Amino acid sequence: MGSTVLKKIAVFASGRGSNFLAVLEQIKQDKIAAEVVCVISDHAWPPVFDIARENSIPTHWVNRKQFSAAEDYAEFLLKLLGSYQTEMILLAGYLKLIPAPIVEHYRNAIINIHPALLPNFGGKGFYGEKVHRAVIESGVRITGVTIHFVDKHYDQGAVIIQEKVDVIPGETPATLAKRVLAVEHRLLPEVVRAYCAGKIEMIDGKVFWNR
Ligand code: GRF
Repeated sequence: MGSTVLKKIAVFASGRGSNFLAVLEQIKQDKIAAEVVCVISDHAWPPVFDIARENSIPTHWVNRKQFSAAEDYAEFLLKLLGSYQTEMILLAGYLKLIPAPIVEHYRNAIINIHPALLPNFGGKGFYGEKVHRAVIESGVRITGVTIHFVDKHYDQGAVIIQEKVDVIPGETPATLAKRVLAVEHRLLPEVVRAYCAGKIEMIDGKVFWNR
């Protein structure tokens, strides 16, 4: 991308990595002024690591259980992120809570994507198909995608963007997940692009997006 300064992004992901791939593809096409410096997972061999390795991106398996003390875990993560001069963290299907010292260090620089309209159908235990099953069982007619800054709690923090997806009668969690995912793959690269271009800012706890 010529002489443009590339934002250094660390990606945290637990599984498949399709949202990471959607962002990576746009980085590779120079549509996002960023570089993915590493992919970190709480799992040893998640499919997302294959995507990273195919693209020569370093991978790290880091799990709270590998450490006896929570402080050591947080310190290790902070040092690891620092070793890559990480400027932004992207949670792309990451199922664990980000330790508080990291949230503090990377204030307004950690972004998460959630496959529902928060604050509904979010929080601990709401991930993957469980979210879509709960949406269908509740009888709501509208769900969607939320992209937000991360704070110390699951699926909270200031909302950057939300987009609606209709819940169609007779729908299954799998069909709903597929349509929501298509929106995620469009919206997440858009947000990362704007953030890396300095167009998304937090002022007094509110998100401003200069389009
Ligand atoms: C996505 O639905 C995302 O919103 C949620 O976890 C899922 C991850 O999917 N946080 P993938 O690993 O990006 O394919």
